[in-house]
Amino acid sequence: MRIAERAGAQPMPRHGARVLHYAVFPYSGITALSQLDNDLLLRALNREPVPRTPVWIMRQAGRYLPEYRRIREQAGSFMALCQNPELACQVTLQPVERFRLDAAILFSDILTIPEAMGLGLYFEPGEGPRLKHPVRDERAIDQLPVPDARDELGYVPDAIRLTRRELQGRVPLIGFAGSPWTLATYMVEGESSREFRRIKTLLYDRPELLHRLLSKAADSITDYLNAQTEAGAQALMIFDTWGGALSHEAYHAFSLAYAKRVIKGLTRQREGRHIPVIFFTKNGGLWLEAMADSGADALGLDWSTSLGEARQRVGERVALQGNLDPCALYARPETIRTEVARTLADYGTGPGHVFNLGHGVHPEIQPDHVDAMIEAVHELSPAHHEQR
Ligand code: CP3
Repeated sequence: MRIAERAGAQPMPRHGARVLHYAVFPYSGITALSQLDNDLLLRALNREPVPRTPVWIMRQAGRYLPEYRRIREQAGSFMALCQNPELACQVTLQPVERFRLDAAILFSDILTIPEAMGLGLYFEPGEGPRLKHPVRDERAIDQLPVPDARDELGYVPDAIRLTRRELQGRVPLIGFAGSPWTLATYMVEGESSREFRRIKTLLYDRPELLHRLLSKAADSITDYLNAQTEAGAQALMIFDTWGGALSHEAYHAFSLAYAKRVIKGLTRQREGRHIPVIFFTKNGGLWLEAMADSGADALGLDWSTSLGEARQRVGERVALQGNLDPCALYARPETIRTEVARTLADYGTGPGHVFNLGHGVHPEIQPDHVDAMIEAVHELSPAHHEQR
């Protein structure tokens, strides 16, 4: 079985090196391309029984991997890498080839949408993303275009099609986008922010204007995610990285309401399968019950929330993904193993858990430590799924 093999031994064949056989199964209309060797992620997201807990990690393709840094240098810039489907595909596959992961996530960024809206995305070394033309007044908001996900953003579905071909059904491919609120924070602030001074001024002084911006963002994101599903994404994740910065009332009105609207507009069936949606509000632990009613199949949790308590609160409504503190990966491998055991025990037994970090892996983490985490999940999680 391919999933039992140690990944990393095989260099990735160049695109086009393999011959694909599109054998059509009689009567079903489903091609061999849609068959999965390892569908643990999809089963866990649907809360179906699995023999062990599937594992993938946020930002699994990134700077902590030397092979990523090489391709990144070759591409010249981060956006050039995202916009080159061949290279984006290659980078997406790197962690899947190196580790025993149960999913690939498309290498891209949530800021592709503001970039396609013409806001001029660039990265200041060591400072994170910046937008040259943030939207801060009525005119800018009303003139903001809703980009065509199959045209201006066509490099994303292209990268998905290519990656699906290269994956050959080894593991499912996850597509993603930012939430409307999280995208709006970048669009208004023009950079990563601590206090969200500008967008919160807008929220309190001109709520109707912020609603207009969020509506446009929601429409763009819905179209973008549907284009990803159409191209072959087998699960979707919505990153609401900054929802946790809002007050209780504002979270419901300005973040959750628009995430719900996106989820409602998504294509949920493709290639004879349900397309599960994972919704992640960082620091959203207070609102899990409301998030569980968002229409998502699973909630991503950061490390500030207990998986066990979250499970009691959401009941059978959604699966849970998370939630090891990424900083635990700085520790020794034996400590990492203990932390994996603790995380698995916190969730308890039975289906509905996808192992992940509580946020993206840090660039300074050693790949061996990531391996220790993944191997510990493989080794320790079957005991949490034994049939009685
Ligand atoms: O998970 C994966 O492997 C897929 C790739 C992925 C990236 N960004 C690659 C990336 C995903 C899912 C994202 C989402 C993203 N991007 C979010 C939401 C998730 C989260 O982390 O909260 C946000 C807020 C962004 C915006 C963004 N893009 C930031 C804050 C940064 C980091 C800037 C820095 O220098 O650390 C980026 C750039 C980025 N996106 C990098 C990667 C690998 C690093 C850029 C580089 O290689 O130079």
